[in-house]
Parts: sequence; C-alpha cells; structure tokens
Amino acid sequence: MNTPFHYRGDQLYVEDLPLAELAERFATPSYVYSESYLRQRYQAFSHALGPETMLCYAVKANSNLSILHRLATLGAGFDIVSGGELARVLRAGGDAARVVFSGVGKSRDELRRALEAGIHCINVESPAELARIEQVAAELGCRAPIALRVNPDVEAGAHPYIATGLRETKFGIPMAEAPELYARAARSPQLRVLGVACHIGSQLLDLAPIGEAAQRVLRLYETLVQRGIHLEHLDLGGGVGIRYRDEQAPTPADYAATLDAALGGLPVRRVVELGRALVGNAGALLTRVEYRKYNGSRAFCVVDAAMNDLLRPSLYGAWHEIWPLERRSGPEEPMDVVGPVCESGDFFAKARPLPGDLREGDVLAILGAGAYGFAMSSQYNSRPRAAEILVHGAEARVIRRRETLGELWAAEEPCS
Ligand code: LLP
Repeated sequence: MNTPFHYRGDQLYVEDLPLAELAERFATPSYVYSESYLRQRYQAFSHALGPETMLCYAVKANSNLSILHRLATLGAGFDIVSGGELARVLRAGGDAARVVFSGVGKSRDELRRALEAGIHCINVESPAELARIEQVAAELGCRAPIALRVNPDVEAGAHPYIATGLRETKFGIPMAEAPELYARAARSPQLRVLGVACHIGSQLLDLAPIGEAAQRVLRLYETLVQRGIHLEHLDLGGGVGIRYRDEQAPTPADYAATLDAALGGLPVRRVVELGRALVGNAGALLTRVEYRKYNGSRAFCVVDAAMNDLLRPSLYGAWHEIWPLERRSGPEEPMDVVGPVCESGDFFAKARPLPGDLREGDVLAILGAGAYGFAMSSQYNSRPRAAEILVHGAEARVIRRRETLGELWAAEEPCS
C-alpha cells in the first residue's frame, strides 16, 4: 500500500473514514495521519531489517507525542537532534537506552541531559564536540557512549539542502581523520567507544549511495580493528525515499538487501535512523478553498493552508499530490494552489490540473505530508498552527488541537 488515502466512490477516505467528515468535524487546515499505515511501515522495515538492527525513528520528521508513543509501543528506538526531541521521546514513553543523538551543534546542557537520561549513543560530529563530551562526562562522573559520525563523501543525489554526505557540508568528520580521533577517544577514561555513524542525505531513491557509504564505513571498521579498536555497532543513518508523485521508492526488502550486501555477515549490530520512510505517506494536510481568481490568464486557487503549515513546496520546490475530497468528472484546469501568506513563494503547486469547477468551500488533501509537514510549521503571518488528527479504522482522535490566537503571543510580555 503506497498511501492510506483512497477514493471510495467519489469520496476520499483515510482508512474507514471519509475525509469530508473530518474536515467538517475538526475544521481546516488540519493534518490527518493513518495509524495503521504508520504501524505497517514500521513493521515492514523492522521485519526486513531483522532483530539485530536497532530501528530508530528520526523524531525530526514528525514529533507529535502520540506518533512517538505509538512507535515506542512498537519497539522503536529514536534518533534525536536536540534536547527538545529527547524530552519529547521521554514524555512519550520512549526508552532512553534506545536513543541515538545526532547533530552538529549539541550544547553542554543538551549533552548533560542526554547522559543523565542514559541514552544509547551520542553521534559525535567534530573533535571539538568530542572534547566537550569528555568534559561534561567528567563533571557527571560517567563514561559517555559515543560513535563518530563520519562523512563518507558520497554523492547521494538528494536535493542540495538535504544532502549531507559530501565533504563540503557541515556534517560529520572526514573519513581520513577518523582513525586518529578514535585512538584519542579510546584512551579517554570519560568515553566509551561504541560505534560509527553516517548519514548521507534524505529522500534517496537510489540505494547505491547508501550501499557505498556502508562499504566505506565497513572499511573504517576494519582499519580500527587492526588498530585494536572494536566497535559494537554501525549506524547507517536514514534517508530512504518515498513516492510523492511517480518515483520508484525503495522497498524495505531492497533497503535491507543493500545493507546486507555492503556489510556481509559482519557480526556487528546495526542502527538505522529512518524518518520520512515511516511517516511521510501516513499523512495529508486538509485545506479548504477560499477563493478562485485569475490574474490575466493565470488561474489561482487560494486555500486556507499556507507555507507556514507545509513549507516543503516553497523551500525545496517539492511536489505533493493534491486530491479533491470529492472526485469530479468534469474538465480539469491548470491552476496555482496558493495560501494566504504574503509571499510569492507561498504555494503548494504551480499550474496543477485540478477540477475546473472547484469552488469556495471545497476541500483538498495535500498528500505525502506526514514527514516534515507539521514538524516544520510555524506561526508566520500570525497564523495559529493547524490541528493534528490520528485516524485508526473508523475512529479519529485529535492528537494536537488547533492553536488559539492567545497562543500566538502567550510567551510575549503583556503590553506595558
Ligand atoms: N539521521 C540524520 C542524521 C538526519 O540528518 C536525518 C534527516 C535523518 C536521520 C532522517 O532522514 P529521513 O529518513 O527522514 O530521510 N526537511 C527535509 C528533510 C530534512 C532531513 C534532515 N535530516 C524535507 O522536508 O525533505
């Protein structure tokens, strides 16, 4: 199943609920997620990768507590990039012992909290960070479990903003410098050298670069063994792409086979950090048509969601399918689907063929919005953030209520 969103007759459903009913009950804009799809995706990857792989969910993709809780219940570990994400995972009942912590700019306070919580591993991104971790561990009187995040310098074919495995990006430690730094870490009484990590980019449709990166990591592992340093795990990062339009997305089995082929029978635990592949197609953003208008010959459909709700089209030129909740048989017309925010970059689609008779009050579903949708949303233009709804079978639950106007300024000083 590629998406849990499907037509029954002329009505668009998620699982066993017509989306029109949800738009009526919870208003728009609202994010809607399918719990069954999320569970199926997690289980498909977990099954393909096998029990020896620690499947960590990349919290940044969608950090709603209910989503995290469900994944924790299924046995997921978590990949975090901030103290805020750690707090969310713990609040949602996640197991600290299954948490890995990535990111180039971890603060002292974040490192302290991670060590106090007893997380599985910190993925270290620079010599300076390694020194900081040693200091913080010394202050706490503990030994910090670490992996070096190396930069394998492979071209992943991702959008430039989300490709991370090339030498010129800010991520990771150059491969050539890693053995020396491992030797230093292995001598430190404050550090426990646990593994090696890499992540080369996101929305990867070709698995070959992931295999190539894994092979480079394996070569580093072997070099370290020769020097008497034995790692317990290899963290291959995330990045598995999904189908937004007509892409051939890798299957869980393809992904697992790629890692097997690269790493062979190496008896070392694996860790992966998947975000989008688990939640991306579980979610849609429901938005209502406010106006139709024409500027000269250009047709516009102005909707009530905007770039503050779903930034991906504006930021990456990303394609998201847009389906009307009620299927029409009349002629289509190419139109720009745009939001109310005062920027020309505020669009969801350009010249997209949609029913020519779309009118005020009709609702559209913007698909593939489960990952990096709500998580990247903001209150820009003083727009309260959307509601989030989780659907299971024929039941729907609000897992984040719509923000109120008062919440826009709740943290500000009152007028004085
Ligand atoms: N691990 C690390 C270290 C990462 O930096 C990322 C994503 C992941 C795992 C998860 O990657 P995934 O499996 O979700 O591809 N906002 C962008 C995507 C940014 C990805 C950043 N890092 C988008 O909307 O496409």
